[in-house]
Order: sequence, then structure tokens, then C-alpha cells
Amino acid sequence: MHSFLTLLPLLASALAARPFLNEPDTGIEDVLGDIAVGTLPPLESIVGLPDFEWAARGYMNTSAYTYYRNGAAGEWSYRNNLEVYNRFRLRPRVLTDITNIESTLPTTILGHNFSAPFFISPCARAGYAHPEAEAGLIRGAAANGILYMPALYAILSIEQIAAAKPANSTQVTFQQVYLDTNNIASQAIFKRAEKAGSKAIIFTVDSAADGNRHRAARYGVGSADSSYSYMTWDVFHTLQNLTSLPIIPKGIMTVEDAQLAVANGAKAIIISNHGGRQLDVFTQVEVYADGGVRYGADVLKLLSLGVKAVGLGRPFMFANAYGQEGVEKAITLLKHEIAIDAGNLGVGDLKKIDPSFVSWTNNNWYS
Ligand SMILES: Cc1cc2nc3c(=O)[nH]c(=O)nc-3n(C[C@H](O)[C@H](O)[C@H](O)COP(=O)(O)O)c2cc1C
Ligand SMILES: *[C@@H]1O[C@H](CO)[C@@H](O)[C@H](O)[C@H]1NC(C)=O
Ligand SMILES: *[C@@H]1O[C@H](CO)[C@@H](O)[C@H](O)[C@H]1NC(C)=O
Ligand SMILES: *[C@@H]1O[C@H](CO)[C@@H](O)[C@H](O)[C@H]1NC(C)=O
Ligand SMILES: *[C@@H]1O[C@H](CO)[C@@H](O)[C@H](O)[C@H]1NC(C)=O
Repeated sequence: MHSFLTLLPLLASALAARPFLNEPDTGIEDVLGDIAVGTLPPLESIVGLPDFEWAARGYMNTSAYTYYRNGAAGEWSYRNNLEVYNRFRLRPRVLTDITNIESTLPTTILGHNFSAPFFISPCARAGYAHPEAEAGLIRGAAANGILYMPALYAILSIEQIAAAKPANSTQVTFQQVYLDTNNIASQAIFKRAEKAGSKAIIFTVDSAADGNRHRAARYGVGSADSSYSYMTWDVFHTLQNLTSLPIIPKGIMTVEDAQLAVANGAKAIIISNHGGRQLDVFTQVEVYADGGVRYGADVLKLLSLGVKAVGLGRPFMFANAYGQEGVEKAITLLKHEIAIDAGNLGVGDLKKIDPSFVSWTNNNWYS
């Protein structure tokens, strides 16, 4: 008994020091482990979104990979984003008719039709993974009817990305921007975005100051947005007055700010992850969310809370190492996972998923 008691603190510290699994083991190393550094495994061998990171890590050089992989400071938020979905267990219902689930994937985002409730989040520098850069992302999105949000700090210009759309395309995009109070410069960007077919402006509001990026700093691949930015709700109004496109704040992380967004007339908001569940704003504006989504079940957990569409950043950036084909495969894989996971959850119509399909008790067994 005595020895057991003295062991307890050790046991506790051993659990606290559990390793973080950036790439959960699903056997990819066993099957593809002998792929030469600097080459990509065949696209057919990719079975899920995390595989793209594994493949791209061996293919991209370390500094380029690190720019995509990096999280802030000790990367606790990065890890939390990947782990948080697993703390909430699904509550599958059985013996319900789910045979038409695939036909319920299409949805609208700000009134525009898309084939699935997920989108490609704005990420800078797609050229680090593929020479065609953002062209692979916009074409992959077009071919599969999903929403792409081009980043302002893309490798290609707003016009080049638009030119990469299929001929005579009516593809809808939402242009991401970082803006300051220079109205003339902002207005010019809005005009370019509108001309390029953007139907909304994604205004990133969560980077008022430079990102604290330790991992990236070692390779000199820090943030593209490195100044202190003057951003307030007054600035939001000033900017909204410069364009007829709706301006959507991206990076809302608290209930207070979500309510302020509604009060200030935002038509939609993008939150980063689960943090804001149970917001009553869900009935007042469209809510999109991103951060750490890697599996169909992650998407379902966000949709169950009332999120209208879910964004993914890194998985698409890594998939783009294969160019358009990789992006298309990522979309196809995720659509399939959403459909089969919803089926096994007993959800016959994705529009009818609700919070009762998830146990909202925090199952944080390793804390
Ligand atoms: C390489 C990279 C570049 C990014 N660049 C931008 C950007 O320019 N503007 C922006 O609003 N968000 C940017 N993001 C954040 C994404 O839009 C998105 O919120 C995030 O990637 C979602 O998390 P996930 O990568 O786990 O899916 C970037 C993310 C990554 C990984
Ligand atoms: C969007 O989808 C709806 C319902 O399927 C359809 O009636 C409408 O014409 C579509 N809109 C566009 C612009 O394609
Ligand atoms: C890494 O790859 C990127 C993208 O191809 C390239 O721009 C960069 O120069 C490379 N860096 C090194 C150190 O090889
Ligand atoms: C695309 O538009 C051009 C000019 O508007 C037209 O000449 C051409 O036939 C169109 N192509 C297709 C495939 O619709
Ligand atoms: C925006 O435009 C509205 C209507 O024209 C006006 O009432 C308001 O003062 C303007 N706000 C700013 C911040 O420019």
C-alpha cells in the first residue's frame, strides 16, 4: 500500500508528460515508410486528410514545411485545436434511415450554393508546396463545388487567382484581407476582389499584433502580417462603408465579440473552434468555424452546434503538394467521411443534426 501511494505522484506526472501525436499512427509509416525524402507517395495511397501532412513533410523542405506546420509560442493552442474534438464523444442513434445522407451535403454559405458544408480557409503562400500555388486550390474547389477563401498574402495576386478559375466560371470566392485604416488602399483591394468574383470580404481580426512563432522563427519563416494593426469596430464600419460586399470578421473567439459582431451588423462570423459553443448568435448570423478539423466526425461536431460551414487550412495546404488533384482528393475524402460518419451517427439529414448527437461532458481523460 505504501509503495502504491508513493507511486501515485509519479503516475500523475507520467500522464502529464504524455507525448502529443501530431500525426496519429494509422499505419502509414508501415506501408509508405520507404518513400524517398523529397518525393511524394502516389496519391492513391492517401486514405485520409492527416496523410497529406505526412506526405508533404517528407516532400517539402524543412523551412517550407515549418511555415505550414507552425503554431504560436509553445503551440498549446495548436495542439488543443487538434485534441479538443476528441474530448466530446458522439451519441450515435441506431435504426434510423440514413440512406439519403449524401444528398443532404449541399448547403448555402451567405446565400451561395456549395456542394458541402466545408471550405478552404485562407492560407498565405500556397507556393511553398506547389509551383502552381493557389491555382491548385481554386481549381480544386471549382471542380468540386466548394468555397475557397483566397488569402491576401497568397503567392498569386487576386487577379492571377481569378484567372486560374475554369473558363467562364461563375465560381464564388470570399477574399481574405488584412487591412489598416488606409481607406484608399482598402477600397482598391475591395474593388479588385469584387472584379475577381468575390462575394464577401473575410476580414481577419485575430492578428492585431505579430504572431509569436517560435518554431517558424528558427527558419526565418514568420508571419506575413507583422505590424500592430489599428482595428476597432469603428474601423469595421468605415471599411463596410467602402464596399457593397459583406465584411465577415474572422477570428472571433468569445461570446462577447460574437454578440458585438451581431450588434455591429456583421452578416456572418468565423470563430476559431469550440470555444464559443452555445452562442445565441447562431440564429442571428451565419457562423463558420475552423481550427484542427481533420476528420468527418470533427465536422459533424461543429455542425451539431449550429455552425453553418467548417473551414480547413493546413490539410488543404498539404494536399496542394499534389496540386489540384491533391486538393480534389482531400475534398472527396472529407465529403465521404462526413457522409459515412453521419450515417453511423444516425443522422439521415445533415441539416437536422443537433447538439443531442454529442455528449457535451468534457472527457479530458489525460488532464
Ligand atoms: C500556412 C498558413 C497560412 C495562413 N495564412 C492565413 C492568412 O493569411 N490569413 C488568415 O486569415 N488566416 C491564415 N491562416 C489561418 C487559416 O485561415 C485557418 O484559420 C487555420 O489554418 C485553420 O486551422 P487548421 O490549419 O488546423 O485547419 C493560415 C494558416 C496556415 C496554416
Ligand atoms: C441554388 O440552389 C437552389 C436549390 O437547389 C436553386 O433553386 C438555385 O437556383 C441555386 N442557385 C444558383 C445561383 O445556382
Ligand atoms: C524551400 O522550398 C521553398 C518552396 O519551394 C523555396 O522557396 C525555398 O527556397 C526552399 N528553401 C530551402 C532552404 O531550400
Ligand atoms: C466563354 O465566354 C466567351 C466570351 O464571353 C464565349 O465566347 C465562349 O463561348 C464561352 N465559352 C464557354 C465554354 O461557354
Ligand atoms: C457609414 O455610412 C452610413 C450610411 O451612409 C453612415 O450613417 C455612417 O456614419 C458611416 N459610418 C462610418 C464609420 O463612416
